[in-house]
Amino acid sequence: MRNKWIVSIDDYRKASRKQLPKMISDYLEGGALDETTMRANEDRFDALMLRQRSMVDLRGLNTSTTVLGHSLAMPLMVAPMGMLTIFHPGSDPAVARAAVRAGSIFIHSAWAGCSLEEVAKVAPDNLWAQIAFWKDPAETASYISRARAVGVETLVVAGDVGSSSKRERDLHHGLSMPPRPPVADYFNAATRPSWLWRWLTGRKMTYGNYQINGRPLRMDEMNNWMASNKNPGANWEDFARLRSEWKGNLVIKGIMDAEDAARAVEEGADGIFVSNHGGRQFDSQPATIDVLPSIVDAVGGRAEIYLDGGIRRGHDIVKAVALGAKAALAGRPFAYALATGGEPAVDRVFGILQEEFKGAMGFVGKSSVADLDSSIFAGQAQSAPTESVLI
Ligand SMILES: Cc1cc2nc3c(=O)[nH]c(=O)nc-3n(C[C@H](O)[C@H](O)[C@H](O)COP(=O)(O)O)c2cc1C
Repeated sequence: MRNKWIVSIDDYRKASRKQLPKMISDYLEGGALDETTMRANEDRFDALMLRQRSMVDLRGLNTSTTVLGHSLAMPLMVAPMGMLTIFHPGSDPAVARAAVRAGSIFIHSAWAGCSLEEVAKVAPDNLWAQIAFWKDPAETASYISRARAVGVETLVVAGDVGSSSKRERDLHHGLSMPPRPPVADYFNAATRPSWLWRWLTGRKMTYGNYQINGRPLRMDEMNNWMASNKNPGANWEDFARLRSEWKGNLVIKGIMDAEDAARAVEEGADGIFVSNHGGRQFDSQPATIDVLPSIVDAVGGRAEIYLDGGIRRGHDIVKAVALGAKAALAGRPFAYALATGGEPAVDRVFGILQEEFKGAMGFVGKSSVADLDSSIFAGQAQSAPTESVLI
C-alpha cells in the first residue's frame, strides 16, 4: 500500500532517517567540508524560475528521449553509488530492477557492495559500468574484461576521485567500513532495529564487487585493497589508452570545467557527466547547473552531456535539459527510497519524478523533450545579459 505521507523526494529523505542510524543517514545526506557546494546544487536549481504557458495542446506530450542511442522513458538515469548495501540489503539489484521497469539506466559503481555480474543478470540492457583507474593497471583491465563479458556497452570513467575528500559528518561519527558505531551512536543505532540486525549479522555488508578466494571482500578487506590501489596518478593518458582499447561508448564523470570538457571530447569521450559528486568530494565549487552552459558551449555538440547534483524535482530535470543536458541523473533520491522501503519505494521515486517532469513539461508548454530550450526560463535566465550591467 502506498504511504500517503510520502509524496516527494524530500519526504523520502526524512523517512530514510527513521530507518538508518544517524551515522549512516549522515553519510548518505552529507557532503564535503562546509557542504556549500552540496547545498548550492539544490539552491541554484530553485533559483531558476520557469515561464508558465497556457492553453497549449498537450495531447501528444511525450517525455521519452535517448542517450547514446538507448531509449529512456524520460531524461533520468541512476547515478553510480557505492555501498548501497549499507542502506538496504536489496542494494544494487533492487534499484536496477526498478530502473528497468522505469525505462531508465542504472550505473553500477566501481565501489558497489554488489557485483557487476549480479546486476547484469537483472538489468542486462539497462546497465552502464563505472570504472576507476586503479594503481595496478591489471586490476583495471580485469574489471573492464568483466564488464565486456556481461555485455556492458558503456563505461563511465570516474574522473574526480584522484584526490581525497573530507566529510566532517563522517569524521565526527568515526564512520568506518564496515560501520562500527562509536559509543555515542550506540543508542541511536539501537533505535533502528532492522538496520542493526543486518549490521550484526553482517548480511550483505560486503564489497561484493571484488572477490578473494571466491568470496566477496569484507568491508575491512576492501578498505585495505582500496587504500593500496587508490591512484592519484590517473590522468588523460590513461583515458586515451582506454579509448584506443574500448570499442563501446566511453563516458567521463566528474567534469566541472569547460577546458576539461573540451579535452574529454578531444580524447574521444562519447559522453560527459557534469558532476561535482553531489558535493561529496570537493567543496567551494559551483553548482552543476551553473557550469552546465559553459560546458555545453565548449563541447559544441560533439558529445552528449549529462548532469547530476541536486535533482529533487521533475522540474529540475526540465531545467537541466533546457540548458543543454541530454539527461539528468539522481543519486541520493534513489538511496533515500531504497533505505526507506526497498525496491517498491525506488519504483515510487521514479514515478514521482516522472509525474513531476511530465507536469512541468506541460506547464512550460512543451510536448517533447527535444523542444525544451532556454525559452522556458522566466525573467533573468531567459534573457540573461552577456555582460554585467553593474560598474
Ligand atoms: C551514498 C553515495 C555514494 C556514492 N558513490 C559514488 C561512487 O561510487 N562513484 C561515483 O562516481 N559517484 C558516487 N556518488 C556520487 C553520485 O554518483 C552522484 O554524482 C551524486 O549523488 C549526485 O548528486 P545527488 O545525490 O544530489 O543526486 C555517490 C553518492 C552517494 C550519495
